[in-house]
Amino acid sequence: MHALSALTVLGIETSCDETAAAVVRLDGDAVEVRSSVVASQIDAHRPYGGVVPEVAARAHVEIIDDIIEQALREAGIGMGDLDGVAATAGPGLVGGVMVGLSAGKAIALARGLPLVAVNHLEGHAVSVRLAQPAPYPFLLLLVSGGHCQLLAVDGIGACTRLGSTIDDAAGEAFDKIAASLGLPYPGGPALEQLARAGKPDRYVLPRMLLGRKDCDFSFSGLKTAAARLAEKTESEQDRADLALSVQTAIADQLAERSGRAMALYAQGRGGEGRLFVVAGGVAANGAVRAALERTAAVHGFAFAAPPLKYCTDNAAMIALAGAERLAAGLTDPLDAPARPRWPLDAEAARLNPLHMPGRKGAKA
Ligand code: KG4
Ligand code: ZN
Repeated sequence: MHALSALTVLGIETSCDETAAAVVRLDGDAVEVRSSVVASQIDAHRPYGGVVPEVAARAHVEIIDDIIEQALREAGIGMGDLDGVAATAGPGLVGGVMVGLSAGKAIALARGLPLVAVNHLEGHAVSVRLAQPAPYPFLLLLVSGGHCQLLAVDGIGACTRLGSTIDDAAGEAFDKIAASLGLPYPGGPALEQLARAGKPDRYVLPRMLLGRKDCDFSFSGLKTAAARLAEKTESEQDRADLALSVQTAIADQLAERSGRAMALYAQGRGGEGRLFVVAGGVAANGAVRAALERTAAVHGFAFAAPPLKYCTDNAAMIALAGAERLAAGLTDPLDAPARPRWPLDAEAARLNPLHMPGRKGAKA
């Protein structure tokens, strides 16, 4: 029985602009990251000011084999030591997803190993467990360039969506507003840097959805308002002041909506699972982290965030999600499809479709 012994799993991640492979060993609740290799394509996309799907897919094809080999080498193992292969099957840029998923399928087929087709969001959901014990259940804010949602995580394969963005993801808002301030891609870290010199409360920006009873997010009004103000800025000080106002507005919204989710999540659970986790690239932002930490304390939740290298896209989180699924007997057939959109909580997506098929918007 798999569940009784340690599992060594290769993880593969190619859903956006990182080509990544990792080896993770799961022994009961003990997690060991044996290797985690991430090759970023940022330089290839920078001239275009954002991720170009075709450029991304080609870049994944060129290096995926080397990255997998490197992950195995750094882990000090061969393919024969693996108990399974986990690859991101969506949501994401489908050309890239197909590259990693096909590589995973090829290894699974050639080696007779079980395949786990991992939802990228489930990878982010378990990422905190790569570096510290984080027992289920917990409340998760997943906040990155592609995603912005609040999830009750009761276990592997058991996530319930409490809220989601109705337009842009928070990282996307950071990136687009940063671009309107003339900052290079990716804009989030550059905007945070600029905001350091800013004076607070110079610019009034819309605070969207505050006080609403649900746990949804919206950033498009803020984006439009900030872009208009950015056009009028004259000095470096103006731009720094605007950057700080934008960062504060985003942090406030994330904290207020998360506070709302904490109250809902806590209902009926008593004191159980009062852990609030933030994951995804935007968790790198100091102001966002501080605002969320304060909110967690107010609601009586412990606060945890994965180390930065596991906040942004990586394959260790995919390997861990794969290992946990494998331990639970959840594997996938070799014809598992690559899925551009794939809500983690299919039931919530069906009952409350924030995005109709084919519409532009958040991907999950
Ligand atoms: O998780 P991630 O690497 O990729 C996605 O799955 O999207 O997140 C990348 C996003 C980008 O939008 C980037 O601008 C944002 O995270 N980000 C930040 C910071 N560092 C990364 N946003 C604000 N402040 C930061 N320090
Ligand atoms: Zn991601």
